[in-house]
Amino acid sequence: MTMKPLRVMAAADSNMGIGICGSLPWHLPNEFKYFLSKMNSVSTAGKKNLVICGKGSAVEDRSLLPNCYSVVLSRTLSSVPKNANYLCRDLLSAIDLASQPPLNEEIETIWVIGGVKPFEEAMRHPACDRIYLTNIMDTFKADTFFPEFDRDAFKLLDGLPDVPGEIQEENGIRYKFQVFQRVSK
Ligand SMILES: NC(=O)c1ccc[n+]([C@@H]2O[C@H](COP(=O)([O-])OP(=O)(O)OC[C@H]3O[C@@H](n4cnc5c(N)ncnc54)[C@H](OP(=O)(O)O)[C@@H]3O)[C@@H](O)[C@H]2O)c1
Repeated sequence: MTMKPLRVMAAADSNMGIGICGSLPWHLPNEFKYFLSKMNSVSTAGKKNLVICGKGSAVEDRSLLPNCYSVVLSRTLSSVPKNANYLCRDLLSAIDLASQPPLNEEIETIWVIGGVKPFEEAMRHPACDRIYLTNIMDTFKADTFFPEFDRDAFKLLDGLPDVPGEIQEENGIRYKFQVFQRVSK
């Protein structure tokens, strides 16, 4: 059985800060649009993506992810939250959804979108081939940080056609879309 690509997507500031008090430290609508476009993109018509996150990182409005099934991870919730399709107890069970009926034929890419533990576990998983990490070129007050990852195993890619290469600027904040590709196990 071929494993589906497992990818991580995040935005982190110069200190690797990603969150504050349960929210993002910044307001960057175009960066969020880029995130949504990646979540909803598939290369084959009829396919969808599987979006996995911890309880505190779910996209509130499910209608923003029309081309995705979403999984919330929690060991304490007893029912599927209203903004998700599935509830799983751990990351591996969530990843398994993509390999089993009814989703196996339909899922193209598995995206892990936070928070810290899901990021950590996903980046150590052998199916994780890419890390999409927007570099917010500034520092913000943060209480949640993107975890370390193996920078010998993942190398920065240049010139991807669907990733703008130039520095972006929004609300006076500069940022750069980055993609790290796994080069070794
Ligand atoms: N900048 C970015 O790209 C980005 C992306 C995502 C999130 N964020 C920010 O990061 C913060 C949230 O991240 P976080 O790390 O604090 O929380 P989180 O991972 O979103 O949620 C934590 C909760 O999710 C459940 N959970 C997480 N990992 C799990 C696992 N492997 N297995 C089972 N359950 C799991 C647990 O719920 P139970 O306690 O119910 O078991 C845990 O208490 C927010 O500020 C958010 O805005 C930023």
